[in-house]
Amino acid sequence: MTSLVVAVPPKPVRKAVFPVGGLGTRFLPATKSQPKEMLPVVDKPLIHYAVDEARAAGIEQFIFITGRGKAAIADHFDISYELQHQLSTRGKDVAALAGHLPDPGQFCFTRQQEPLGLGHAVWCARHLVGDEPFAVLLADDLMMGDPPCLRQMVDAYRTVGGNLVCVEDVPRAYTSRYGILDIDKETGNLVSAKGIVEKPQPEKAPSTLGVIGRYILHPDIFRVLEKVERGAGGEIQLTDGLSAMIGKVPFHGLRCDSRRFDCGDKAGFVVANAAFALQRDDLRDEVRRQLQDLLDDASEQFSGA
Ligand code: G1P
Repeated sequence: MTSLVVAVPPKPVRKAVFPVGGLGTRFLPATKSQPKEMLPVVDKPLIHYAVDEARAAGIEQFIFITGRGKAAIADHFDISYELQHQLSTRGKDVAALAGHLPDPGQFCFTRQQEPLGLGHAVWCARHLVGDEPFAVLLADDLMMGDPPCLRQMVDAYRTVGGNLVCVEDVPRAYTSRYGILDIDKETGNLVSAKGIVEKPQPEKAPSTLGVIGRYILHPDIFRVLEKVERGAGGEIQLTDGLSAMIGKVPFHGLRCDSRRFDCGDKAGFVVANAAFALQRDDLRDEVRRQLQDLLDDASEQFSGA
């Protein structure tokens, strides 16, 4: 049904869409007055990691689908004259303020006025993306790996084209948290799929291969999303759009060689902080020592209980 190789190499992936309109209710009260995408892992907001990953994959245009109360995201990627001035007059290093700034005009922001789901958020980017393939990155899914996850996907996409999603095996008990693939064939780390279902209950899930928040999409998705009915959770689901395109364009999952931290979940977010700190030369030793103390104390506490 789907082929593993496309005859003509697809157009390059130059644009990325970042749906950042979500309310972040799982992180209240931390997200009461700041976007969840601005929660820091060590010293960088989640959205900053996603943008860095996209840059490393060769993305040239960055499209943010925002909502009310998300202005801090645009500010983060802008010059902060006051802060720069304050730091320079005190003789402090300003390097942390500027390295991530885009070239003028490289970022654009549009608003999703109502939270109607991921499919709707992506559809809001249709005029900005136009008729070319594009990436979608969900900043909640923080990826650690080299080469970065989206880079691996862009490389695979050159061969397969169509729609490509990042996948990983999830515990069967958790299938109702993910888009789940119905597997047709597996070739190395590529999976061709004959179906995809949004958040199925474990007993109904066609597999345990879950989609994580990285996609490369064919621009036809916009026309399809326009017609998709509300699905799981009463929202317009990207998964339903992908499902409707199966058989029309190739559809694959890629098991990326990256470690994923689910930063939409409190435990995942806490562990991501530890994991990213342990990667850093300036923090590793101290963090390891303190974590070890904590774990020793905890095991004493529980063995005594
Ligand atoms: C979204 C998608 C889901 C995907 C998940 C990955 O769900 O709808 O198919 O598996 O992202 O993180 P959300 O986590 O926004 O509920």
